[in-house]
Parts: sequence; C-alpha cells; structure tokens
Amino acid sequence: MARNMDYLHWKKRNAQRITMLTCYDYPTAVLQDEAGLDVIFVGDSLGTNELGYEREISVTLGDIIHHLKAVRRGVKEAYLLADMPYKTYENPEMALATAKELILSGADGVKLEGIQVEIISHLYKNGIEVWGHLGYNPQLHEKAAVQGKTFDSAKILLESAISLQDAGASMMVLELVPEELGKMITEKLRIPTIGIGAGRFTDGQVLIVQDMLGVNPFDLRHSKRYSDVGQIMLKAFQTYANEVENGAFPQRTNVRNMKDEEREQLLS
Ligand code: KIV
Ligand code: NA
Repeated sequence: MARNMDYLHWKKRNAQRITMLTCYDYPTAVLQDEAGLDVIFVGDSLGTNELGYEREISVTLGDIIHHLKAVRRGVKEAYLLADMPYKTYENPEMALATAKELILSGADGVKLEGIQVEIISHLYKNGIEVWGHLGYNPQLHEKAAVQGKTFDSAKILLESAISLQDAGASMMVLELVPEELGKMITEKLRIPTIGIGAGRFTDGQVLIVQDMLGVNPFDLRHSKRYSDVGQIMLKAFQTYANEVENGAFPQRTNVRNMKDEEREQLLS
C-alpha cells in the first residue's frame, strides 16, 4: 500500500503506529525509504542539524527546497513531508504560494507551526495536505521547554488541536508535551498525531535523524541513540588521515597501470 494520507489515517484507525524521521539528503532518504519508514520529513531542523545555523528561524524556503529536491530523488514509497520555514506563511496568500512551491519541489504535504486556523483552512480549501505542529514550536518559542504542563495551558493546546483539525489539518505533530496531554489529544482527534517528546501514546513517533544515529553530541531525554554513527565517522576520518600520512593508502590494489609498451614510451 502506498504511504499516502489515506494509509496514515488507516493506520490510526487500526491502532498501528506511524513511523517518521527527519531527512535532509539523498543517501539517507534512500536508506530510510528502504527501511520502510512511513513518513520522511525535511524539517526546518535542517538549519541546526545539517547547516550549522544557531536557530531554526534562519532557515529559508530556498534552504528547504534545495534539500527537499535531494530527498525527493531518494524517496519511492514513503510520504514526503516538508516544513514551511519561519515567516513564509504570514498570511493566507503567502502561505499558499509557499506551500505550492514545496509541493512543486516534491513534497506530498507541508507542516506549519502554531494555532494558524485561518492559514490551515486556506491551504486545505486549496487542496494542500497540511500538518499542524503544536506544543514546543521552535519558530515561535525562544527556548526548548515542555508545553502544556498546567491544566490551563493543556486545555488551550487540546482546544487548539481540535480547531486545527476542524480547519482541515490532516495530521498533527506534538512536540515536548506531557505524556498525559499527548494521549488525550491523540484520543480526541480523528487525525493521527505524531509525537516527539510527547510520550508513548501518540499515533506515531518522529526523531531527528542525527539524534537517533548518534551524530549529534547531545543526549536528549526524549530521544534515543540507536547507533554511534558520529564515532564511526570520526574513527574512519582519523584512520584515513593516518594511512595517507604513513603511506598505507593507497595500495597496489587501489591503482591502475599502463600497458608495458605505453609505459616504456613514457619513460624513454
Ligand atoms: O523540523 C523538525 O525536525 C520538526 C520536528 C521536531 C517535528 O519540526
Ligand atoms: Na520544524
């Protein structure tokens, strides 16, 4: 079954978890697609995880499109989601223009942050599959912090999630909220929820690919390191540099030679 929106909704109705990872480049996209991930996501976490920016708000639409096109070339089966960057959805018309550009560049759907009922409604009415994103919103909040820890703030998040669904959101990402709230929003919504630091009971999970691979040095409570790819890369770089310096690489088996008569002519 193609991993389209119907499939993602079917998974929720059948209590099957939805799998999602961020991705910013072609070779990673090929591997994630082969691994059978449901959703491959070019997030604006691109900025801090791949481009060396200080914050997500520095990411431009051009940045996302450049990486989205690379990822598109590697994705065959998965649903391909792209983030709408900071200040690219200031009003309904601007949001639609941004979304159309992302779809033209290969996205199956787009995601935006915050309680943007009017924007989501406009995109939905224009046939765009749009994902909401509530809880901690890196484009809107200065510092990473758990949202919805008090009854009042939790109630606002729950009501916001319902209003975004009613406005036409197809999916809902929940970032850094207490597990109780992640569970309640998941039960109240018809559309699937995808959590990151939102507990065990959301309809799916998303992680930043560098976090789960162990490329980043951070150790985050909500994440899990499935590998130590950073250490593996470091060791390979060091061994290569040593071998070039001490002459262990390249070897005879790594080189090509001329035919004897050609060599004799060259040397004579
Ligand atoms: O950009 C991103 O990676 C995200 C996830 C944290 C959901 O928005
Ligand atoms: Na993002």
